[in-house]
Amino acid sequence: MAKKSPTFACKECGDTFTKWLGRCSSCGAMNSIAEISAGEVAISAKSNAQVLAARGLTSEALDDQGPPAPPRISTGMAELDRVLGGGLPRGACVLIGGEPGIGKSTLLAQVAGAVAMAGPVLYVTAEESTDQIRARCQRLGVPPGNLRLAATSDAVAVAGTLASGAFSLVVVDSIQLLTQDGVEGEPGGVTQIRSCAATLVEAAKRGRTALVIVGHVTKDGTLAGPRLLEHLVDTVLSFEGDRYADLRVLRAVKNRYGSTNEIGLFRMGGTGLEAVADPGSVFIADRDAGVPGSCVVPSIEGNRCLLVEVQALVNPSDMPQPQRRVSGLDRDRVAMVLAVLSRRLRMPLGSADVYVNATGGARIIEPAADLAVALAVASAWREIPVPADLCAVGEVGLGGELRPAPRYELRAAEARRLGFQRLVGPGPGAGRGRLTAKRLAEAVEAVFG
Ligand code: TYD
Ligand code: MG
Repeated sequence: MAKKSPTFACKECGDTFTKWLGRCSSCGAMNSIAEISAGEVAISAKSNAQVLAARGLTSEALDDQGPPAPPRISTGMAELDRVLGGGLPRGACVLIGGEPGIGKSTLLAQVAGAVAMAGPVLYVTAEESTDQIRARCQRLGVPPGNLRLAATSDAVAVAGTLASGAFSLVVVDSIQLLTQDGVEGEPGGVTQIRSCAATLVEAAKRGRTALVIVGHVTKDGTLAGPRLLEHLVDTVLSFEGDRYADLRVLRAVKNRYGSTNEIGLFRMGGTGLEAVADPGSVFIADRDAGVPGSCVVPSIEGNRCLLVEVQALVNPSDMPQPQRRVSGLDRDRVAMVLAVLSRRLRMPLGSADVYVNATGGARIIEPAADLAVALAVASAWREIPVPADLCAVGEVGLGGELRPAPRYELRAAEARRLGFQRLVGPGPGAGRGRLTAKRLAEAVEAVFG
């Protein structure tokens, strides 16, 4: 029997279904399933058999010369260029996501202005009027250069411009408000977003135009329809930070043309976004070193070392299921560190609520932060502060052993530069200020005596 073709898709994970479901059975998201247009499905189902009958693949030898890497366009912002892996690649599509008000339009107005000094740039707004964009550019001191503005929500018209190759960069703000004629569904719906994005991406490739698309994030912080767009575009950037504070972090979530480890750090000021002057110390700027439950880790992001403060709070609890709240760190690694502290160091954390935080909106996923997490929790539990001039780096193993972190020298040098006299961890040798510990118990002993 022929399999029924799927006509519903999940906005979150992109999985397809033959019937509507209230909860996606793949990713568990609620109310994320929407109908995709029947025509779209029918075409893909029919073409399978035809393709088999009519076509074969063309293949290349391993040592054939492929097309050269696309030339890059500098955005005029070194932090952004670094996250992109050396500037905007021509013909490629970058999706930039972030909460409303975080500064996406500001960032892109600055980029558009800088690129327009060297070549023609088009800023397409589907959300605001051209007057609003003009006013923002004037506030930001963006020079007129070769920058043109257009207010439209017509995806096909934008695609035509992209394909013409008349502009070196086109910014589309935002994908959620574009519509494509002949495609069913509301703007911002699964079918519209997907077909608008596919149309734009294809046109940008044809016209060798760099394309930057703005995408809004949903309440829970994911890009709307992330999986739906992720595979269509070359690079996905996430613009994060606290709307009420001025620090902004730009991360690559996916990057076909560079690494996903690099982050860009900016401050939102009166004249727009500026690169942070001393990135190494930005996350420890507001640290109060005399408080128990705080430990600094020199962490690696891309090619840079950033010092990050890990904070912990341990509070006795009567509940059968004590709280475990983690933000900015890997939840599973923190749970593992807590288990090692309970089991190997006999710390009775099973009857306490534990909160662990990386401060300032930092996010560390590397295991090298384990030791700082352990020391912050131990410090909170004992109510003894970690000495202000001491930081820690190392991975904690299930047996309570410590493993060295990669790029130890870079971390040690940056910690020293920022005034830390002592670095605890399973590092090489016992150099100046190094407290070598091979086991977690030894490290706790060295720090708290
Ligand atoms: P915006 O770029 O419009 O955010 P998004 O496009 O992500 O929704 O900017 C949002 C905020 O930034 C807005 O509240 C005002 C503030 N802002 C500054 O602080 N300085 C500036 O120079 C500009 C242009 C905006
Ligand atoms: Mg905006």
